[in-house]
Amino acid sequence: MSDLSIGRGFSEDERSRVAALYWAAFGTKLRTAFPDQERGLAVIEASLRPDNTLIARTPAEVRGVCGFHADGTGAIDLSWSTLRRHLGILPAVRAAGHLAFLDSGSRPATLVLDGICVDDRARGQGIGTMLLAAADDLGRSMGARAVQLSVIETNPGARRLYERVGFRPVSAGRLGLLSAVYGFDRFTVMRKDL
Ligand SMILES: CC(C)(COP(=O)(O)OP(=O)(O)OC[C@H]1O[C@@H](n2cnc3c(N)ncnc32)[C@H](O)[C@@H]1OP(=O)(O)O)[C@@H](O)C(=O)NCCC(=O)NCCS
Repeated sequence: MSDLSIGRGFSEDERSRVAALYWAAFGTKLRTAFPDQERGLAVIEASLRPDNTLIARTPAEVRGVCGFHADGTGAIDLSWSTLRRHLGILPAVRAAGHLAFLDSGSRPATLVLDGICVDDRARGQGIGTMLLAAADDLGRSMGARAVQLSVIETNPGARRLYERVGFRPVSAGRLGLLSAVYGFDRFTVMRKDL
């Protein structure tokens, strides 16, 4: 992966590609919020906030994305006007309720990550590891003392990766009734001191 570079933010030309990667990785979780996949993807594309992403790219294309919380928002900065414009009022109300979980908020002196995904044709080549190392560097440059993320119980591969690079579980939670909506119940919050 010698031609791979990692940087903060993406250009408007890259927006649809970043959204497609995000949707490919998290669409199953997000899908139930929207009337159909096409409109769901359109909302995610319109709501992605470049400043809240680290992007792994080759000269040819974006290969991976790591979102993070900063300035009071995550990588997906949902607004009522975007939901309403793409969905209409009633589906927008429904989507807003379903997507409330995206707002996992910020913690003092902690960089909270918000969805890491790598093109499925490029997984297992170290891109996820490099994005997490870049998140460490970003956290230090922002004065954070730790990086934090959540991983769902049905993703043991991702959890292994996080443990390998130094994250440790600090708490666990359950969605309870909402598990029927999102397709998973338990999640673990993991943290790495910088
Ligand atoms: C998790 C993910 C970001 C890892 O990116 P990656 O570039 O494949 O990661 P690396 O090559 O640096 O490391 C590979 C590690 O990721 C884990 N992994 C998880 N899913 C994987 C997959 N589909 N293919 C390959 N490795 C995967 C493996 O356990 C592997 O660990 P190992 O090297 O100890 O065996 C990527 O698999 C992905 O986008 N998955 C879908 C979205 C997702 O689940 N994101 C995490 C949400 S918490």
